[in-house]
Amino acid sequence: VRNKRRAASEIGVRADLVRLPPSATLDETLREVGRLNERPDCDAILVQSPLPDGLGRAAERRVFDAIDPGKDADGFHPINVGRLVQNRPAIVACTPAGVMELLDRSGIPVAGRRAVVIGRSDIVGKPLALLFLHRDATVTICHSRTPELPSVAATADILAAAIGRPGFVDRRFVKPGAVVIDVGINRVTDPAVAATLFAPDSARWASFERSGAALVGDVHPEVEQVAGALTPVPGGVGPLTIAMLLRNTVRCAQRRAGLAD
Ligand code: GUN
Repeated sequence: VRNKRRAASEIGVRADLVRLPPSATLDETLREVGRLNERPDCDAILVQSPLPDGLGRAAERRVFDAIDPGKDADGFHPINVGRLVQNRPAIVACTPAGVMELLDRSGIPVAGRRAVVIGRSDIVGKPLALLFLHRDATVTICHSRTPELPSVAATADILAAAIGRPGFVDRRFVKPGAVVIDVGINRVTDPAVAATLFAPDSARWASFERSGAALVGDVHPEVEQVAGALTPVPGGVGPLTIAMLLRNTVRCAQRRAGLAD
């Protein structure tokens, strides 16, 4: 924010990409985050996940935790997650925020409905379940150890799939007329897997044969025949996630300028 007295609508946004070499150590990465935290002309920070394997599994959490919570464009910092849990104003993880935006803009009510979230990740499943809860849905979170997963999922008025397994959610999981949100983005290259997802005479199969790969969600295409509404992959939740990243960035800037909660 160049001039705090200007109206929020006039705030200019500039994105800088900071590239560290693949050989960067954890200390170097943390120092770079520290520099961005200190820079007065930097309002929001996102460290692209996944970090290189060489840094070790614990590195990602340490790097995310090092981001100033007021500049946390991802909403992954424990302070922001805690604020979300308590339903206080917070920077919320982009994908779950995008799902809510998508429902709202499609005129799909949430209050009083049964929402089932398949997946319990910190990035999608848990925050999405909290957002549903705060909007007065009755929420169930399912995961790999949930018994009779298809029949639990089929209780949902709104079903969100965020597990990272191509085509996992088939028609058995879906109550007729349910709203199905497909959060998965999986790159399929195995023709045997693609053949379970696309009909041999379909445009998607033809495209897979041409390019040798396809982006598919966690929801099997057959669900289209039973769902009342279904988000496509690609082109559904993904673009909303990017839009929410920009919204979070603007919100970080507004908060730093004292223009928002
Ligand atoms: N990589 C893939 N999705 C995300 C995301 O939402 N945030 C970050 N930081 N990295 C990602």
